[in-house]
Amino acid sequence: MTTKTVAELLSQEVTLQDVSVKGWVRTFRANRFIALNDGSTLNNIQCVVDFENFEEALLKRVTTGAALHITGELVESQGKGQSVEIQVKELEVLGDSHPEDYPIQPKKHTFEFLRKNAHLRTRTNTFSAVMRLRSSLSFAIHKYFNENGFYYMHTPIITGSDAEGAGEMFRVTNLDPKNPPLTEEGEVDYKEDFFGKETNLTVSGQLEAETYAMSLGKVYTFGPTFRAENSNTSRHLAEFWMIEPEVAFMDLAGNMDLAEDFMKYVLSYVLEHNKEDLEFLDKRLKDEEKKLPQAERSPMDLIDKIKFVVDNNFKRVSYTEAIDILRNSKPNKKKKFKYIIEEWGADLQSEHERFLVEKHFKCPVILFDYPANIKAFYMRLNEDGKTVRAMDILFPGIGEMVGGSQREERLEVLKEKMKALDIPEEELWWYLDLRKYGTAVHSGFGLGFERLVMFATGMGNIRDVIPYPRTPQNAEF
Ligand code: 4AD
Repeated sequence: MTTKTVAELLSQEVTLQDVSVKGWVRTFRANRFIALNDGSTLNNIQCVVDFENFEEALLKRVTTGAALHITGELVESQGKGQSVEIQVKELEVLGDSHPEDYPIQPKKHTFEFLRKNAHLRTRTNTFSAVMRLRSSLSFAIHKYFNENGFYYMHTPIITGSDAEGAGEMFRVTNLDPKNPPLTEEGEVDYKEDFFGKETNLTVSGQLEAETYAMSLGKVYTFGPTFRAENSNTSRHLAEFWMIEPEVAFMDLAGNMDLAEDFMKYVLSYVLEHNKEDLEFLDKRLKDEEKKLPQAERSPMDLIDKIKFVVDNNFKRVSYTEAIDILRNSKPNKKKKFKYIIEEWGADLQSEHERFLVEKHFKCPVILFDYPANIKAFYMRLNEDGKTVRAMDILFPGIGEMVGGSQREERLEVLKEKMKALDIPEEELWWYLDLRKYGTAVHSGFGLGFERLVMFATGMGNIRDVIPYPRTPQNAEF
């Protein structure tokens, strides 16, 4: 008899067959009803034991968290809440779980407590639902790109260039910190280091992805990126996953179309394939928000919010228009913003982004054509000489989800920009080569995967949508 998953058993129409299942005990009620979960679905399978037929010592070992192997007959359920259940014939305890020590008791735990027990938190409904959704979104991402003619490219994680400017970097070295080799000037001599130069963990795969786009046409990366910023917020991680497509011969308008189509696709995918988990998370969010004053509750339920994004066009607004809206907004006039918007050129803070998406437009917004001096060196300069073809996509409740641009394809303009920013040409000679040999318009963007998972699950803290979060002062597990 082959062992089946709980998901398979619960979808069976044929009862009165012998089945075998393995999983972990969620609860054991009245010495009779075992709720068994194996992670294949949110739901447990009810296993009914006639305790008269089993040794008391064995049944005592059926505690919350214990691993069991159960064989028995799949029958129509007598009780409410499930269509089928197992009438247990054989019960084997594969692994005991000490009832007093086991942290995940069948009761409500706070997310702070569960973060401390992140190795066990996927044994709760909330975290198993979140992580199944995370997995499903990853799959949908690869599926979208595969169906649309993109190649998956693995960009390096250790990088020798720190010119991207996306954030502070983590150094990679195998020098002895107590006794590093020194130059004549007394500085650490990285020529003696493993790679013969300073190396870091990458903040983005973009620059390397551009090289492949300029030969393979359409590529994307989906990998871990690292930023040593000390931003201890609910939306920042020091290690996060980013999806970065890069496409030759595509301009900024094409880039916006791609980003919008892509996000709608992956969100529709989970609406279709993760109904059960989404319904659970939808209810969870409603329960959580019941504690909040009306004004702070989300205007829409989780599933409605996702459907809204899938069914409506993102609003495309230039930076200049956005500044006008913000300058004339109530919170700006009444000095409610922490950073008052006075003139064109100001960098937008998250309070401004949230005002635009949550109060003004009430939908996802693509902001484009930002001032050149607040954006990265590689972005295509517009004819006005002061704005660049950059775009950020802002989402309600999340803020910035995507950052992207059309890239500067003109060698001389790029060189000038690098010179102005003190970026040495030697460091990015290969990047400049792309502009020498068959240069062309090209564009791409980066989507922060955990922010997408936050949006799709309704979780409010980025630490709760990645298995083992890396944040300042925290690298447990
Ligand atoms: O806007 P960013 O910095 O863009 C880049 O890195 C470009 N190289 C992307 C490209 O054009 N290929 O980051 C992209 C996205 C942000 O919009 C945000 O969603 C996410 O990455 N992100 C973070 N997510 C979690 N924690 C952090 N510390 C993040 N920093 C950025």
